[in-house]
Amino acid sequence: MAIVTPARTDLPALPHWETTPDDLPGAIRQVKAALRTRITSSGRSVEDVFAVIEKRVRAQVEQIAAEKARGETVWPVIDYADIAAGTVTADQLARLRQRGCLIVRSHFDRDQALGWDQDIVGYVESNRFFETYRGPGDDFFASVGSRPEIYPIYWSPAQMRARQSDRMARVQAFLNAQWTSQSDGVQWFDPQRDSLYPDRIRRRPEGADSAGLGTHLDPGTLDLWMTQAYQRAFRHLFDGTVEAYDPWDAAYRTAGPQYPGTTMCSAFRTFQGWTALSDMAHDQGVLHTVPIPEAMGYLMLRPLLSDVPDDDMCGVTTNKVFPVSDTRHPLLLEALTGIPDVRAGDSVWWHCDMIHSVAPVQNQKGWGNVMYIPAAPWCPRNERYAAAVREAFITGASPSDFPAENYERDWPDRFQPGDLNQAGRRGLDLD
Ligand SMILES: [Fe+2]
Repeated sequence: MAIVTPARTDLPALPHWETTPDDLPGAIRQVKAALRTRITSSGRSVEDVFAVIEKRVRAQVEQIAAEKARGETVWPVIDYADIAAGTVTADQLARLRQRGCLIVRSHFDRDQALGWDQDIVGYVESNRFFETYRGPGDDFFASVGSRPEIYPIYWSPAQMRARQSDRMARVQAFLNAQWTSQSDGVQWFDPQRDSLYPDRIRRRPEGADSAGLGTHLDPGTLDLWMTQAYQRAFRHLFDGTVEAYDPWDAAYRTAGPQYPGTTMCSAFRTFQGWTALSDMAHDQGVLHTVPIPEAMGYLMLRPLLSDVPDDDMCGVTTNKVFPVSDTRHPLLLEALTGIPDVRAGDSVWWHCDMIHSVAPVQNQKGWGNVMYIPAAPWCPRNERYAAAVREAFITGASPSDFPAENYERDWPDRFQPGDLNQAGRRGLDLD
């Protein structure tokens, strides 16, 4: 069993807020001062600690630039067949952990994925979704025109079959195994059991113009610095042991609270992911990441440097996605890298702390269709959310992490409890 170094108890304690503080600028000032004091009490300066992370990140940025210059594919690619057969090589595994993202080739048969795409079209058309669509329920994925690109649809047979499939479970377990899920006598999550986190669908048609999505990350906002659980999860950054910071350590990450927000994810995800339901070329407005898991350490420490005002966390605040900017993080953005061409049935995965964006596209060639399915292993946090998911599944409502648009409540052909297999029942905690 792995031994994870506990937080040092000989250093000044940090103030923490288990719910969103009323006075955000005041709380930011307070926690930043306390974090700086804690770091200096460990015998190191904030600048020294930041320099350690910056050096680690810079080495990766330079390596990525060299790979691009040589025309190599930066994103790791592994065949589903190798995951299923247990024949993924040590080199491939090392590459996955170095880059923190992955393409799984032929995760599903191409015809299966294209069939699911058509099933979804049939599902929404037969239920008159386009006639009744009321416009975007949030401003995060706002679409132009009357037809959405993001469908707030959660309970189609196609989505649920993919979520509860053996093929999905194998890949999720493989990805979960890249993390340290057990340490100091605690099992932080169960790598073999997924919680079937329900998310939406994107169908972006041929000819579409899209502005894309700016660089951001999804694991949280101010709670990352302000709740006790996250302060412990990121303990090495703040207690003089920055060299021990490990982006794959799940300790303290899977039970704590998250500040509410319009674009929140209540679940702990080892990886975010989607499965391609159409072929997509690399230059057609696709997903990009900064494929450096340690970049999270950089993002967490950057606001503590002296050029950032005391009440500013480099622009991070509640109810807004965590921004990554040219002003504060130019080094990181140098490494922004798009996925290679994918085919329907391939799946795409990125570490939950990873910076990502969606490139803009004009007059898109071909469709851009995906089904969002992450790896969200069983843990206290996901067990709590599963209760809400179960209720939404049974009533056909939108899950509580999403706007309450509730389109599918009266749709007769949505996936039914009797259609669940064992993985589906376990994921919803119905067994
Ligand atoms: Fe995101």
